[in-house]
Amino acid sequence: MRAPRKKPTRKIAPDIAARLSHRFSLQMQPDGNLVAFLGDYSVNLGQFSKAAIDRARHLSTGLPLASFAGKSAVARDVDALVHRLARQGLLEYRLASSCDERDLVVIEPQVPEYWPRRAKLGNRDTIVLSRFAYLRRRGNEMVLESPRAGALFRIGDPAVAATLAALSQPQKIGKLNRKAATFNLCLLELLVESRILLKLDAKDGQGLRVNEGDGNLVLWDFHDLVFHTRSTEGRQANPVGAAFTYASIVPPLPAVRPPWPGSKIDLRKFSSPEPISLFPKLLRERHSTRDFDDKNPVTLGELAQFLDTTARVVSEWKSGPYFDGGPDVTYSTRPYPSAGSAYELELYLTVSNCEGLARGLYHYDAGSHALVAISASTQQLQAHAVAAQFAMDAPGQPQILITIAARFGRVSWKYSSIAYSLILKDVGSLIQTFYLAATDMDLGGCAIGSTNIDLFATMTELEFHIEGPVGQFALGRGRKLDIPS
Ligand SMILES: Cc1cc2nc3c(=O)[nH]c(=O)nc-3n(C[C@H](O)[C@H](O)[C@H](O)COP(=O)(O)O)c2cc1C
Repeated sequence: MRAPRKKPTRKIAPDIAARLSHRFSLQMQPDGNLVAFLGDYSVNLGQFSKAAIDRARHLSTGLPLASFAGKSAVARDVDALVHRLARQGLLEYRLASSCDERDLVVIEPQVPEYWPRRAKLGNRDTIVLSRFAYLRRRGNEMVLESPRAGALFRIGDPAVAATLAALSQPQKIGKLNRKAATFNLCLLELLVESRILLKLDAKDGQGLRVNEGDGNLVLWDFHDLVFHTRSTEGRQANPVGAAFTYASIVPPLPAVRPPWPGSKIDLRKFSSPEPISLFPKLLRERHSTRDFDDKNPVTLGELAQFLDTTARVVSEWKSGPYFDGGPDVTYSTRPYPSAGSAYELELYLTVSNCEGLARGLYHYDAGSHALVAISASTQQLQAHAVAAQFAMDAPGQPQILITIAARFGRVSWKYSSIAYSLILKDVGSLIQTFYLAATDMDLGGCAIGSTNIDLFATMTELEFHIEGPVGQFALGRGRKLDIPS
């Protein structure tokens, strides 16, 4: 006789709740505006109904998203408030464990437009962990991250890690359901939507590298995509730039390395401290310029000359196949060196003040030495130029902001493990070429170390892993100091 089937227990879908980031507090101002405070920093959120503000008080512990999903006036008001907080990066989202009230996971958004969405999963669906996902310790917490995800997941229950480990191989939801005591469909659906888990089609086989995303994604090594997204702005919420995070613990290194103790050969008697030709003179004159003369901006003619000197394609050629049955590969020669002659770097110009050229975004077509206009909104262009001004601590926006973007696949098609580092080295050689050409033309320029890859992706509608910024350079006519006679 067959044993009676155990009645499956119904899983109560755990609620996702929005919670105000613990460092912030909400306060009503006498003028009726609601303001979020963190020490001296504040964000004005605007005016809301009293009923909405009463509900918003639950944001300190967690306000279930379902509680304001309705169509009532109060729900719509709460929804507007919560979305405003989300866009300012002031929210996290908690998913409670179904057996008690502990946080199962807490979702920390990494991109401004993140909102917790669930992919639909059924028992017949097969899912697997993305090869870009990783678990690591952060302070006393375990976090689950991926450069492809718009959020990171703080893991509150170690059993979640066991589920993730099981998902290193494709698993059918139905089977996972029966096997794992910690099964949580809502979490899996959130992770699929965040691209930390993949839903496999029958044609996707084992869900290995070639099955994840397009060809451009296949070419990325794990560490390279993590490096790209964690060393730029736009797809992470960590502090970027001069934050001096451990300056109180570790002293700064000296400007010049202390000499080795071995015997010294003094080179001064073999070389002249004065430039002996034009090139060393150019190198000595090169310097960064952050203050531009906006009454006397760089002209279109100067820009054309600058691009011709530094970045124009000089010639094109072709190599035979690298392996049996492989394709011919086309190459170009340009004024600066490039690893493997890949010339993967593209120039995008945000023009704010150039005589003879309208404000806007342009791509430099290096093959035909032409500028091609790209439509981008005024707000996007303004945000892009202001970020560069901020990075330089400059009095005004750069006349021309050159964003150096990489066609990543051009390098990673050939090179494993070193592709992204080669791209950054290419950026360095291009930047020095820019500096020297600007100096030679009596123009001013400054390299910029930070760049927002998410904003660029929005402006150009190019996916961040296909073509995106890896460096920036501000160009213009430097303001001449008024020297009193
Ligand atoms: C890779 C790189 C990134 C840089 N990033 C910035 C930056 O974000 N903001 C800035 O004001 N200057 C930046 N600079 C310029 C340096 O601060 C400058 O080169 C350095 O202080 C030496 O001064 P000089 O260029 O006038 O000789 C950068 C330079 C390089 C090479």
